Amino acid sequence: MNTITAIMGKDHQQCDQLFAASEAALDQSEDFGPLKDFIHHMKQHFSAEEDVLFPAFEELTGMRDRGPSAMMRLEHEQMRGLMSEMESCTDAEQASNLGETLMILMQQHNLKEENMLYPMLDQHFQLDQFKESLISLLGPWDAAT
Ligand SMILES: [Fe+2]
Ligand SMILES: [Fe+2]
Repeated sequence: MNTITAIMGKDHQQCDQLFAASEAALDQSEDFGPLKDFIHHMKQHFSAEEDVLFPAFEELTGMRDRGPSAMMRLEHEQMRGLMSEMESCTDAEQASNLGETLMILMQQHNLKEENMLYPMLDQHFQLDQFKESLISLLGPWDAAT
């Protein structure tokens, strides 16, 4: 667990797990609680990227308004829109249907980060540079895993 790709990839898995729990709770008991946990963690994950990792990438490459991080920011906005729609649903089934669209966006987005953006970051930065900020947003990780 000493690369950005490993840590952030692991956090994608965490988001996937929270999403699955949220969908299950909506489907089985119309419980919106796990959806709130999922959205909270997604927002923390987006902050880790938008406030910590992307600025480093943009500084390095000079690509701010165009380029991969700009596209990722745009996709975050789309996902934020869907999440706030889900949050404002009163009907669990409606929220769950929106969740399916969100899941597709999320999978495509995460693959792009894992296959392209994070490896580019790893080529130029050490995880240590970002460790404290990432831990404060995402929580601690197990160095041994
Ligand atoms: Fe992202
Ligand atoms: Fe991500």
